[in-house]
Amino acid sequence: MRALVLSGGAGTRLRPITHTSAKQLVPVANKPVLFYGLEAIADAGIREVGIVVGVDQAAEEVKEAVGDGSRFGLDVTFIPQDAPRGLAHAVLISRDYLGDEDFVMYLGDNFIVGGITPLVDEFRATRPDAQILLQHVPNPSAFGVVELDENGRVVGLEEKPKQPKSDLALVGVYMFTPVIHQAVRKIEPSWRGELEITHAIQWLVDQGYDVRSTVISGYWKDTGNVEDMLEVNRSVLERLEPKIDGSVDDTSEIIGRVVVEEGAEIVGSRIVGPVIIGANTRVVDSYIGPFTSVQHDCQIIDSEIEFSIVLHNSSIQGVRRIEASLIGHQVQVTPAPKVPKAHRLVLGDHSRIQISS
Ligand code: TTP
Repeated sequence: MRALVLSGGAGTRLRPITHTSAKQLVPVANKPVLFYGLEAIADAGIREVGIVVGVDQAAEEVKEAVGDGSRFGLDVTFIPQDAPRGLAHAVLISRDYLGDEDFVMYLGDNFIVGGITPLVDEFRATRPDAQILLQHVPNPSAFGVVELDENGRVVGLEEKPKQPKSDLALVGVYMFTPVIHQAVRKIEPSWRGELEITHAIQWLVDQGYDVRSTVISGYWKDTGNVEDMLEVNRSVLERLEPKIDGSVDDTSEIIGRVVVEEGAEIVGSRIVGPVIIGANTRVVDSYIGPFTSVQHDCQIIDSEIEFSIVLHNSSIQGVRRIEASLIGHQVQVTPAPKVPKAHRLVLGDHSRIQISS
């Protein structure tokens, strides 16, 4: 069995980060979201992994970050996709790589706590033509939505429907036998110009193939937008094992679950966990509040930040306070110069006024 990890895409919902960087490399607790997926695949006993990437700068970053995959115990092959033409298109162009093996398709920006091992084991044991994962969600219109019959068999799939027929969203992990290769060749691009995997799976259902589903109850998120990214970061940081490898001076205060990586320096600051401070980052005269991840080689000086993610080599100086923010790499945040303020007043005799200035 092989895996196909999708790590191309346009990433429009995470712009402007995705103008220059891959969204799959945005860190969750200082580790790229993609790496959690690769680790889950390795844990499930799969070795051969094809990673679909674009043909842009973001693709180069992914290739550099993952390398040959040996760090994860994987043998990785990169499969270039000329443009984000859809999830089913990614399968189409991976035909030669996948050969006649069964495979797990894993969306590189999806995050599943607890991995996929039991699901892959179940698929190996029962081997239906395809198996999809579902989760009950409060806002199904934002997802691919699946309708089941009374026996739990898949009868219909719709991509982001205005009037969803159920509250069951498609999770970004799918298990396929080679019959999916016929399906992706039979379908036409959707109104948004993409070859949709939902259409390919619908084709399997319509042809009478055995498409099964498993409703998962664990934690799953598609990190396609900033809110979800921060939420995944929050949930991973909650389970952080505290560890101080860097230096913390006597005038600083560390409270709760905090990781200070090697070479990081905390001076005159207050850090309230869960927080992770990356290697060689300097935090001086600042407050870092709960659910914040700061990657390596940053400078946070005379500032306050919480519930945020800061990517490597960025600096924040003299800014209070930053909240619920995703800050890319090599960013500089400084206060705006003060605009001179003037108050024009016509005040009656004996007035008392308070002006903040
Ligand atoms: P999506 O999040 O559905 O699409 P996108 O990356 O284009 O993002 P947005 O909706 O914000 O524009 O993609 C899910 C995953 O699949 C993600 O990791 C990107 C990847 N992908 C490809 O590799 N090729 C593709 O053609 C598409 C559409 C997505």
